Amino acid sequence: MKSFYVSTPIYYVNGQPHAGHAYTTVVADVLARYHRLAGYQTFFLTGTDEHGENVAKAAAAAGLEPEAFVDQVSASFRGAWDQLEISYDDFIRTTEPRHQRVVQQVLQKVYDAGDIYYGEYQGLYCVKCERYYTEKELTADRLCPQHFIPPEVRTEANYFFRMEKYRSWFQQELQRNPDLIRPSAYAHEVSEMLREPIGDLSISRPKSRVRWGIEIPWDDSHVAYVWFDALLNYISALGYPDGPQFAQFWPVSWHVVGKDILRTHTLFWATMLRAAGLPLYQRLNVQGYLLGSDGRKMSKSLGNGIDPLEAGRRYGAEVLRYALLREVSFGMDGIVSDAVIEQRLNSDLANDLGNLLSRTVTMVERYRGGLVPTPGPQGQREQAIARAALALQAGILEQVRDMRISQAIEEVLEFVRDLNRYLTETQPWALAKVPEQSGQLDLTLYTALEGLRIAAVLLGPVMPHKMEALRGQLGLAPGQAASLEGDWGLLQPGTRVQPGEVLFPKPGTQLGEERQQPQEDRKPNPQGGEPAQGAGEISLEDFAKLDLRVAEVTAAELVPGADRLLKLSLSLGGESRTVVSGIRRWFAPEKLLGRRVVVVANLKPVRLRGILSQGMILAAEDGDQLDLIGPELPLASGSKVR
Ligand code: ME8
Repeated sequence: MKSFYVSTPIYYVNGQPHAGHAYTTVVADVLARYHRLAGYQTFFLTGTDEHGENVAKAAAAAGLEPEAFVDQVSASFRGAWDQLEISYDDFIRTTEPRHQRVVQQVLQKVYDAGDIYYGEYQGLYCVKCERYYTEKELTADRLCPQHFIPPEVRTEANYFFRMEKYRSWFQQELQRNPDLIRPSAYAHEVSEMLREPIGDLSISRPKSRVRWGIEIPWDDSHVAYVWFDALLNYISALGYPDGPQFAQFWPVSWHVVGKDILRTHTLFWATMLRAAGLPLYQRLNVQGYLLGSDGRKMSKSLGNGIDPLEAGRRYGAEVLRYALLREVSFGMDGIVSDAVIEQRLNSDLANDLGNLLSRTVTMVERYRGGLVPTPGPQGQREQAIARAALALQAGILEQVRDMRISQAIEEVLEFVRDLNRYLTETQPWALAKVPEQSGQLDLTLYTALEGLRIAAVLLGPVMPHKMEALRGQLGLAPGQAASLEGDWGLLQPGTRVQPGEVLFPKPGTQLGEERQQPQEDRKPNPQGGEPAQGAGEISLEDFAKLDLRVAEVTAAELVPGADRLLKLSLSLGGESRTVVSGIRRWFAPEKLLGRRVVVVANLKPVRLRGILSQGMILAAEDGDQLDLIGPELPLASGSKVR
């Protein structure tokens, strides 16, 4: 049997969970659930990171001993995950003896091997990140890039881990295994970090200053640095060194982490594993940020996050899961506001999926006494639907393993929409009036029911209870005909459907109202300029002033705080440009990668949202639709448009 191991970061217990943590945890949860569905023996680990200065400070601020404080906050993470239906197999806390033991074992092992030494260090330390920064990593104002606070200059006598010694090994490892870190942009980022010395890592703190940590086994006046402690959770939870789970799951380990902890999960963790004589993890999956209401990364210290429990209570935990997974392309930054959740709920879930279920089941009640009809031979349309369903079923795990979760969900929804179209075309309500069409009516209803069954299997990992409820309305018992292996036709004729509650009730609030937009987003022209007002005739000379070029989109990302803008990187032959364009409404950033567009290359640069936009891309608008203009042939970027 195949095995699969997935972990989330273990979260700091210095604040309550927010939607950013929920996003990572839900991603790991669906990975686990899809693998279980596909028959893998799966181990899913999450937990809390409970040592270090920040936690000690937060405890003091709450007027509690660290032990009591971490118990409380850790329990609130666990509670949040239970409410969001996170199916973790183990929840590790770094204050547990099973973890402390492993940290001490590994420290001792690396020390004995000569890779830890005692020395003095001076550096720029962010107390919130609990790590040193190099000058280059700070912002232009010399602030921590995560917390925007000035780092402290610290000098300490500490134990150091010989991280630099393993740099070239890790460089080779990345070259040898281009899939180690995904999406590949992050692998590239790590390769860049490795071009220059990474230095050795200070891995202890004097107890005189930091009491709250795991003691260094050979020197009881020091505790372990919180990252050397925390990263080892991924193996301590498996029973390293000789637990059977360690043998089974470590070789197939996938981590899911945010890009804020890319460096620690590559430079630190990979070299630690190497020094401890252990193989690398199999895959590091790196996600972008969920942005808060202010367009900045949601974070505990900025206090700008959505409370996942509140959102879960308002819309339903599974609607929140759906919106997070569908809305954010893995690896990219994303915004999941209340408006976004409501829109997904109204359109995809209530209108498309919920409506398909209720209309189908109602018709089975009305025309067939509530019993699943026996379908006759399929026509072309029904064959195509069955083929599409089976193709989705066969491909979904691969797509999910490729971290194209949002796309996988969208394909299932597209299938659901096609079933709705099929009903609209076939008009079962009209067929029901003509006795000679009884066979076609049976076939149509069966096709919709069986399509729904398969859609529910495919979306089960995303919305486990809702999809079980959907299947219940089809008359299926829990777990019945719920495998990814199943053929078309598993829903047995004669089964009694069980019409039930509306699957996705719409929230009271109306959606789609325009939210107040900042000035530059509000202009009707997607380029952020004024709309053309019938400019009158221009001469050929005027036209010749325009430098129009073919360009290729090499990167596209959201602009924090600007719902309508995308920041595009364009390649124009030997040159690359940044262009900010108001096309977010029509294009998901990843859809634009590799696309050839036409750019006005000699437009005077303007600053939008602090970004210098060097040109404008051409688009055509037709009512609500918008498309980008570009050549059909793969013309070289930089080609002149005349
Ligand atoms: O870093 N958007 O813990 P942490 C998306 N204890 N994901 C976000 C996010 C956001 N705005 N904010 C947080 C730590 N996350 C360490 C980890 S692991 C051995 C130790 C998610 O509580 C994201 O996964 O700061 C990020 O990497 C993690 O929470 C950081 O959680």
